[in-house]
Amino acid sequence: MSTFLLINGPNLNLLGSREPDVYGATTLADIEARCSAVAADLGHDIACCQSNAEHELIERVQKAHAEGVSFIIINPGAFTHTSVALRDALLAVDIPFIEVHLSNTFAREEFRHNSYFSDIATACLFGFGAYGYELAVHAAARHMARGEES
Ligand code: DQA
Repeated sequence: MSTFLLINGPNLNLLGSREPDVYGATTLADIEARCSAVAADLGHDIACCQSNAEHELIERVQKAHAEGVSFIIINPGAFTHTSVALRDALLAVDIPFIEVHLSNTFAREEFRHNSYFSDIATACLFGFGAYGYELAVHAAARHMARGEES
């Protein structure tokens, strides 16, 4: 059994009511519950957290290392396009991670096309909506089972 960590960044606490035409109607609580159920089915544990504050996300990533987290699934929200500091935290702990976005950011405004995470991620999932998180849990479990990249 491995421990996964699901991290959601700013404004993702508002899922369900936030721009439902872009992000869907599923709440973050529903996404976290679904990920926990899928992880349990696959024999793993998952811890979930969300913050609107960059420093809290960085501290959570740093703590993950001490806790022995094996794999991170992260939607950095708008910090995707701005945060060198959160990128550096992921590089520092050297825990493999999947970058998840509900929307296909490449089909949106140009400022959303750049990610500070994609080039250092094990894999990226864009545009699958809430289902993307579930796919990420499956992929994380497969990564642990195979002991290889993705
Ligand atoms: C998002 C895409 C980001 O551009 C945006 O700032 C978000 C959500 C997504 O999941 O599609 O907050 O990460």
